[in-house]
Amino acid sequence: MEIIIRETYEQMSRLAADVIRHQLLKKPSSVLGLATGSTPIGTYKELVRMHQEEGLDFSKVITFNLDEYLGLPPSHDQSYRYFMDQHLFNHINVDPKNIHVPYGHAEDIEEFCEWYEAEIKRTGGIDIQVLGIGGDGHIAFNEPGSSLGSRTRLKTLTKQTIDDNARFFAKEEEVPRFAITMGVGTILEAKKIIMLANGPKKAEIVAEAIEGPVTAQVSASVLQMHRDVVVILDAEAGSRLKRADYYKWVYQEKKRLIPQMIGKVT
Ligand code: PGA
Repeated sequence: MEIIIRETYEQMSRLAADVIRHQLLKKPSSVLGLATGSTPIGTYKELVRMHQEEGLDFSKVITFNLDEYLGLPPSHDQSYRYFMDQHLFNHINVDPKNIHVPYGHAEDIEEFCEWYEAEIKRTGGIDIQVLGIGGDGHIAFNEPGSSLGSRTRLKTLTKQTIDDNARFFAKEEEVPRFAITMGVGTILEAKKIIMLANGPKKAEIVAEAIEGPVTAQVSASVLQMHRDVVVILDAEAGSRLKRADYYKWVYQEKKRLIPQMIGKVT
């Protein structure tokens, strides 16, 4: 795992966008796995800037989002499809045909999930997957106890996730209880993974996921098993890491000696 601790959220976001740009320059038809939530907003903003000011091309890119609330149509302002349109898709030249966000009101959920998995495979698999981390350690909506081999499926959200999401809805009872989500096993098949976290509220769970044991109780801990993960944090989210000084030293040394290796696995 490569752990990079930047001082601010903006620096974290710029570096994440840079890693994605690097991937797109290498392979313009990359398959991107995308996440929602407050964490990647800065990264998407920077990608939009790169598109508008530097001509970063998304015309051949294929995207797959991690998850979507059950029952919310794409037009709902709290649906993840709506979020992606607002923060990224409406501002870049991605072909709408190449966008995949789980369909929150699919009639047959099981059939939809199988199709989603098959579609990821058909496009050659995810080249680079962006992840946030939930307060309970979830990646996508893989709540504690999710099988480390799980695939795209319907998942019941934890009380903690529902409470975390309540801020976006007018009433608590409107917060969805279920979501369609890629599984941990699905995510692990991505060729490269970037996990982002910022702010003091994530410090404890980030330390558990990165330096604690691999356990289904902290879904993000399974990233320790993946061969190409870069974790990009701001200083607050990285503040509980025991080896923070080492990670910072590695980053400084790499930047000095082999700058083109930043964002590549150690
Ligand atoms: P956040 O959510 O980015 O809004 O903190 C992260 C997550 O739940 O995965």
